[in-house]
Amino acid sequence: MQQNETPLFTGLVNHATKNPIQFHIPGHKKGKGMDPEFRSFIGDNALSIDLINIQPLDDLHHPHGMIKKAQDLAAEAFGADATFFSVQGTSGAIMTMVMTVCSPGDKIIVPRNVHKSVMSAIIFSGATPVFIHPEIDPKLGISHGITPNAVKKALEQHPDAKGVLVINPTYFGISANLEEIVSISHDYDVPVLVDEAHGVHIHFHDRLPLSAMQAGADMAATSVHKLGGSMTQSSVLNVKEGLISAKRVQTIISMLTTTSTSYLLLASLDVARKRLVMDGYELIEQSIQLAEKTREEINGISPLYCVGKEILGTDATYDYDPTKLIISVHDLGITGYEAEVWLRKEANLEVELSDLYNLLCIVTPGDTEETTSALVYALKDMVEAFRESGGETTKKFDVHAPDIPILAVSPRDAFYSETEVIPFKESAGRTIAEFVMVYPPGIPIFIPGEVITEENLQYIDENIEAGLPVQGPEDDELKMIRVIKEYKAIK
Ligand SMILES: Cc1ncc(COP(=O)(O)O)c(C=O)c1O
Repeated sequence: MQQNETPLFTGLVNHATKNPIQFHIPGHKKGKGMDPEFRSFIGDNALSIDLINIQPLDDLHHPHGMIKKAQDLAAEAFGADATFFSVQGTSGAIMTMVMTVCSPGDKIIVPRNVHKSVMSAIIFSGATPVFIHPEIDPKLGISHGITPNAVKKALEQHPDAKGVLVINPTYFGISANLEEIVSISHDYDVPVLVDEAHGVHIHFHDRLPLSAMQAGADMAATSVHKLGGSMTQSSVLNVKEGLISAKRVQTIISMLTTTSTSYLLLASLDVARKRLVMDGYELIEQSIQLAEKTREEINGISPLYCVGKEILGTDATYDYDPTKLIISVHDLGITGYEAEVWLRKEANLEVELSDLYNLLCIVTPGDTEETTSALVYALKDMVEAFRESGGETTKKFDVHAPDIPILAVSPRDAFYSETEVIPFKESAGRTIAEFVMVYPPGIPIFIPGEVITEENLQYIDENIEAGLPVQGPEDDELKMIRVIKEYKAIK
């Protein structure tokens, strides 16, 4: 098959065109059995291919027909030995990666700032995490990835680890030298698992960081839906065989996946792959140019600062994705959260994320000069508005990472232990059974199984006082905390 073909999407359309009488699920039967308002909004075309795994339409759990062909084309496009479609986002693909390599008790080397799906997989698999501190950018207050040197040190101490997990690129578009991390890990025969949630497009343009498959990684969980043009929730899991068996991956992904896979999501992956291969380079080139022009314009709006290539040059900032606009509002004397709310209310503009100091906006082939100009104008208005209201009171918080506490029991054992809720202030020395995080820099302070320390309690207090959101625990106000129950001896 050729890359300009879409076996899955075309197969579905051909099937729908035959207009078969359906006595199978979904019960809305081409929309006719559904709420008319929703049907008319969504449209009959979409509903006609909202189908299920009847024999002619293949089965994601045992692909041998049109889904297999579409996955094979995707593997060729991404330079993988095998590609698996995920209808459960990159979260599902990440859980598959971790559970493919880890059995109960196995070690896995991970950055401390991993996505929650990694921690979920660690709990499900019973693995023991060996954490690496990500590098923190003190000026921007964001965390980057992990460095080759840190991976080397971790592997020297834990050569028996079953995998090294890397975030490449980060949410903010920054990447470390992935090729070097892969080479170091492979010297120990340890596979590299890449969280590529924010990097589907990087494979298709040579001015962007190396993709996981280009760098020789063993697996990559890649959100096609985020920046590759497919529908929300659709991702791919790319696999290079050798240290990893594609058959094992198929077994695990199947265990984690619904049996009612959405053909709309699957078809959108098929067409996104075609577009990335056929037109990706040109489309991404346009996005890069548009983003660079926008970056320059934003940097002309004093006192805003839009990060560019000057961020490069450290071990953690080896390369970056210029289509990500990190806009620091720090010198305007407001927080990123305030800026996000202002843009929503006053300019009807939604950003990708905000944190203490920054906004993050993404530029994709969905943008034009019109949308990026709207952003620039809105930012100008925002600066004026805050100047008038007397902004300029630069807030300074010291964004630093807390110490990583000792892991007393595996996260899974802690999660399934008998627990009790005790006052936060009296919890030092106890083993925590829930997560506590602070943004920024988005690094967990505690994960289940870790021993609570006075220092980390103080770190949480400082962050609450500074007005930073502390997330994770059941008690939002953090007056109480869930710990593993201790039984006192009976006298
Ligand atoms: C770094 C990172 N990894 C993984 C994910 C999960 O991706 P998905 O939303 O496709 O499940 C996200 C989602 O935002 C993410 O930011």
